[in-house]
Amino acid sequence: MATFVRIRGALDERTAANLYSVVVGIVLGGGAIGWASPPTRAEFDEWLAEVVGAVRDGEAVAVLAGGVGGAVAGFGYWRRYARPTLRVNADVEKVFVAAADQGQGIGERLVSLLVESARQAGIETLTLDARGDNVGAVRLYERLGFTRYGHLPAFVAVGPYRYDQVLLAKRL
Ligand SMILES: CC(C)(COP(=O)(O)OP(=O)(O)OC[C@H]1O[C@@H](n2cnc3c(N)ncnc32)[C@H](O)[C@@H]1OP(=O)(O)O)[C@@H](O)C(=O)NCCC(=O)NCCS
Repeated sequence: MATFVRIRGALDERTAANLYSVVVGIVLGGGAIGWASPPTRAEFDEWLAEVVGAVRDGEAVAVLAGGVGGAVAGFGYWRRYARPTLRVNADVEKVFVAAADQGQGIGERLVSLLVESARQAGIETLTLDARGDNVGAVRLYERLGFTRYGHLPAFVAVGPYRYDQVLLAKRL
């Protein structure tokens, strides 16, 4: 049974290391979470510190899913848009579930918690995007009430390959 916790500050080293392993596993498996190749631990730490900083500043909400024995099962977060006229809205920048824990409803619960926390924070529209070939993720978002508002052909570059980007949003 997975547990879900909202991050309030820096992760302890064991949790951060577990989260790093999950990220590396997903990227090596071809998962579309924004890295074309696995980040180094230093690059990952820099990214995580930046997300935690945004959480501390009240700009973002991050949820960590825990699996059996304290292992990390998944992670997701949203962040407010920086532009003053867009600050009433936020973007789900990353959502992922460890390969071994997928298909058990963890992703659905993670996204639901992100939606709920955004609503509580007064966010008016929550956006997210997915690589066009990530049909499972898009189906999950649509099931949770996100609707497609756009489609950018050949927008995502992974080495020599180009993928479409699907844009989705949910009015809260
Ligand atoms: C996309 C992702 C976050 C979904 O997470 P997940 O935990 O596998 O999602 P869920 O289990 O909630 O739902 C996935 C499927 O499992 C099914 N499912 C849900 N609960 C289930 C259960 N208890 N037992 C079996 N299957 C279940 C769902 O019905 C869903 O089926 P679908 O393919 O018809 O939509 C995950 O696959 C992932 O991290 N992928 C790689 C990274 C990625 O693509 N991230 C999204 C970037 S936009």
